[in-house]
Amino acid sequence: MKLLVINGPNLNLLGLREPDHYGRETYQQLLDKIRAYCGSRGHEVSFFQSNHEGALVDAIQQAYFDGVEGIVINPGAYTHTSVALLDAVKAVSIPTVEVHISKVEQREDFRQVSFIRLACVGTVTGLGTDGYLRAVDLLEEHHVR
Ligand code: DQA
Repeated sequence: MKLLVINGPNLNLLGLREPDHYGRETYQQLLDKIRAYCGSRGHEVSFFQSNHEGALVDAIQQAYFDGVEGIVINPGAYTHTSVALLDAVKAVSIPTVEVHISKVEQREDFRQVSFIRLACVGTVTGLGTDGYLRAVDLLEEHHVR
């Protein structure tokens, strides 16, 4: 499969940022880990990260024109606020899995809403960065179904 992994705001600061929630692994180490996993599963993978909502919308739209077959997205805080990201995933109809490194369901009330979830084929929370690998598995399962 041709996959795209999208990370939203502040995820470029992994390793530095609130390690109790997000661990010590850096963003670069995360990409290396996902690339190795996708390689071992025979998937082609590319990556996009932005701190800007509109740039994330653009990346989702571009995925359609690039023939992407599955999206793994951690929208960061935009999970809880962005109807635009929800609409973008709906617009392109590419199977998408939502990932959160932390266990969002055990955190603040404002993190209990996810707009994008309404358009996703699966959600992974609380597995640390291994959640991205689990999301790849879910996209595979969805693909063969
Ligand atoms: C997060 C959870 C969000 O609530 C938060 O705003 C993030 C990261 C996670 O990976 O656990 O930026 O998506």
